[in-house]
Amino acid sequence: MVSLKRQVPKVKDFAPLLKFKMPEANATARRLSNAHTIADLRRIAKRRTPAGPFDYTDGAADHEISIERSRQAFLDVEFQPGILRDVTDVNMTTTVLGKESALPFGMAPTGFTRMMHSAGERAVASAAARAGIPYSLSTVGTTSIEEVAATAPNGRRWFQLYLWKNRDLSLELIENAAKSGYDTLIITVDVPTTGNRVRDLRNGMSIPPQLTLKTLLDASYRPEWWINFLTTEPYTFAFDREGSGSLGDLVSTLYDSSVTFEDLRWMREVWKGHLIVKGIQTVDDAERAFEHGADGIVVSNHGGRQLDRAPVPFHLLPRIVDRVGDRGTVMLDTGITSGADIVAAIALGADFTLIGRAYLYGLMAGGEAGVTRCIDILSSEIERTMALLGVTSVSELNRDHVRALTRSVPVAIA
Ligand code: GLV
Repeated sequence: MVSLKRQVPKVKDFAPLLKFKMPEANATARRLSNAHTIADLRRIAKRRTPAGPFDYTDGAADHEISIERSRQAFLDVEFQPGILRDVTDVNMTTTVLGKESALPFGMAPTGFTRMMHSAGERAVASAAARAGIPYSLSTVGTTSIEEVAATAPNGRRWFQLYLWKNRDLSLELIENAAKSGYDTLIITVDVPTTGNRVRDLRNGMSIPPQLTLKTLLDASYRPEWWINFLTTEPYTFAFDREGSGSLGDLVSTLYDSSVTFEDLRWMREVWKGHLIVKGIQTVDDAERAFEHGADGIVVSNHGGRQLDRAPVPFHLLPRIVDRVGDRGTVMLDTGITSGADIVAAIALGADFTLIGRAYLYGLMAGGEAGVTRCIDILSSEIERTMALLGVTSVSELNRDHVRALTRSVPVAIA
C-alpha cells in the first residue's frame, strides 16, 4: 500500500487557495446568488411568499395531472448531441413575429402579478426589456396597460385578452394597448369557465388577500411581503378602467362561455397588429385558428390550470407543426422549468416558447432582481445545452436532436 508523503504546509503554497469573499451586503442579492436552477428560485419563493399567492402560482387544476404530465414530457426527452462541432460562439437570438428576441422565450401573461410581489408586472416587464425579450401583460394583470408601457418604453410588449361578448370593453382595451405600443394581441381561448384550483379553495384564497387569523399568522414570518403589500398602492387591473366592483364581479365579466370562432374573426377585423391564439390543444383547432385569421398560436394547456388530463403541449407540438407550421408562428408554453426544456421545444418545431411560473418564482424570490436571475439561469442553460448538442444557432435545432422515452405518449384508446 502506498503511504502519503507528508510535509509541513508552506504559506506560499496555500496562500493562493485562500479565497474568502466579503459577504454580499444586499440580502436579496445574497439569496439570489444561491439560486442555480428554477427549482432553487421556487424554494426561496415558497419561504418568502404567503401560502395563498404562492399556491395560486404553483398550483394547477384538480389533481394537477396536466401540469405534472407536461413537465414529465420534458423530463422524458433524450437529446441527441453532435460532437466535434465548433461551438465557440453560441447565438441564442431568434426572430418572433417580425422582430428579434435575444432569447427563444418570452414572458407569458400571468394574472394578479402584484400579488406575488408588490413590484409585479412592472418588475417583469422591466427585466424582460433589459434582456431583450417580449413581455405579455395579462388582462387580469394588476398594473395598467399604460403604466407597464411607461415602465419599459423600449421593451417589446404584447397584450393578452379573453374573448368576451362585451365588444365595447374589448375594443377599449385593445385600442389602449395599440396606443401604448403593444404590437401583439394574445387571445386566450381555454377559459370558457375557470379551472378548479383546489389549492386556492383549501387556502380560502382571495384577491387581494384578506387579513384573517390564518393570514396574520402567515404574515408573522413573511413580513417583507406584507410590508410591501400594505405600503404600496392598491392593485389596478388592466381590464378595470373604473377601478370598481369586487373581484368576483370583475372576473365573471371576463370569462364568457358563449364565445366562438366567429368572435375570433371579429377580433381579427379590429386588431391591426399580430394576432395570437393561446390555448390550442388539438391539431384541428390549430388549423381553425389560422383559418380565422390568427398569425400564430400558443400550444398550451394554460399551465395545467384549466382542464385536468389535458393534452401535453410537447407531445402535441410535432403534429401541429406538421399540419400548420408553414401558416404562421407556433409557440409552446406549459411545464417549462429549464433552458433544456426550451431547447427541446424549439428542436421539436416550436418557433418560440413562453414561461410563466418560472419568472413568477423569480419575482417572489427577489422582485425584479429575481426575474433577472430567472432569465439568467434559463439563458445559461439554453446556451450550455446548445453547445453540448453541437449547435451554435437556434435555427439549427431540429427533430434529430430530440427523442422521447415512451412513458406517457398518447395512443388512441379505441
Ligand atoms: C389566470 O390566467 C390563471 O390561470 O390563474
